[in-house]
Amino acid sequence: MRIAVLGGSGFLGAWISELALQIDGARVASLARDPARFPRPNAGERLERLEVDALAAGEVEQALAAWKPTHVVLCAALSRLADCRADPERAHRLNVDLPHRVALACRGRARLVFTSTDLVFGAQPPPAGGFDENATPAPISDYGRSKLGGESVLRVHARLDARFCVVRLPLLYGPSFGRGLGASDSLLEALARGETPLLFTDERRTPLDVRDAAAAVLELALSDAVGLLHVGGPLALDRYSLGMAVLIEHGFSAAEARAKLRAGLRRDAGSEDERPADVALNSARARALLRTRLRGPSEALADR
Ligand SMILES: NC(=O)c1ccc[n+]([C@@H]2O[C@H](COP(=O)([O-])OP(=O)(O)OC[C@H]3O[C@@H](n4cnc5c(N)ncnc54)[C@H](OP(=O)(O)O)[C@@H]3O)[C@@H](O)[C@H]2O)c1
Repeated sequence: MRIAVLGGSGFLGAWISELALQIDGARVASLARDPARFPRPNAGERLERLEVDALAAGEVEQALAAWKPTHVVLCAALSRLADCRADPERAHRLNVDLPHRVALACRGRARLVFTSTDLVFGAQPPPAGGFDENATPAPISDYGRSKLGGESVLRVHARLDARFCVVRLPLLYGPSFGRGLGASDSLLEALARGETPLLFTDERRTPLDVRDAAAAVLELALSDAVGLLHVGGPLALDRYSLGMAVLIEHGFSAAEARAKLRAGLRRDAGSEDERPADVALNSARARALLRTRLRGPSEALADR
């Protein structure tokens, strides 16, 4: 089994690489511009770090053709709202063109899982229980629009090679190997810098621990599941409530945690135009399919 993680140095990709390395006999490749950002220097010879710039013509294709993966997980992306807003052309190249190129390279050769986002929703409120896979996407940000473009490309490729799968993920939190990435580590790092972060009480997601997301994506990559799957957490909650849960689990009292955070509304930061009020996912299909448990924040945050 040869598992290539494109974007293996990122927040999610590092955990997918880490879990893939625990599979007996699997060889794992982490592809990124700076794959050494994957913070496991002792991962051993089963992890290969391949330096590729996905924006350079042919580099990804050549790396995949040479390494010959049996499974590819595509995590490389322009993944921040502000970056996509600032450079929509780059967002298109990484979030739409790259899935097309990787799908072409995988067709008939490797199973491909593309990681997408709950932010393909947002223009409409979710039904009770959250958006399921049949809900019509309606993104409001450049990021969400570009990821939806990547999904559409994959759907076309999937007609020709059925072994493609799209996994929509929610807001991810959890440990980032001390790198300040994701919804919880970035918050703790902001506190350590002496900041009082503003968290929105009117921005609802179904957050999931990055370790559960990585385990689920890897399980799907190794399964024969096809099509579109929502892999979100079991609980819909707002960003401020998630922040409070992170701080309390970190050892602060509720009063201390309240003093360290600013509760606010998206319009306070002028960001209601690109941050949806509610993109809760309904992940019943994935829950029925997966062995991986999608834990809620109180259980996952307590698991250090
Ligand atoms: N984090 C979340 O809360 C969240 C939520 C929903 C969905 N997702 C999805 O999950 C996936 C991973 O997200 P993430 O948060 O882990 O992102 P991330 O931390 O920003 O990681 C992005 C990865 O892409 C690589 N990359 C970026 N530009 C590249 C280029 N030109 N060539 C090669 N590699 C490049 C980065 O490595 P280098 O910079 O070293 O090249 C890094 O490994 C994305 O598809 C994202 O849309 C994430």
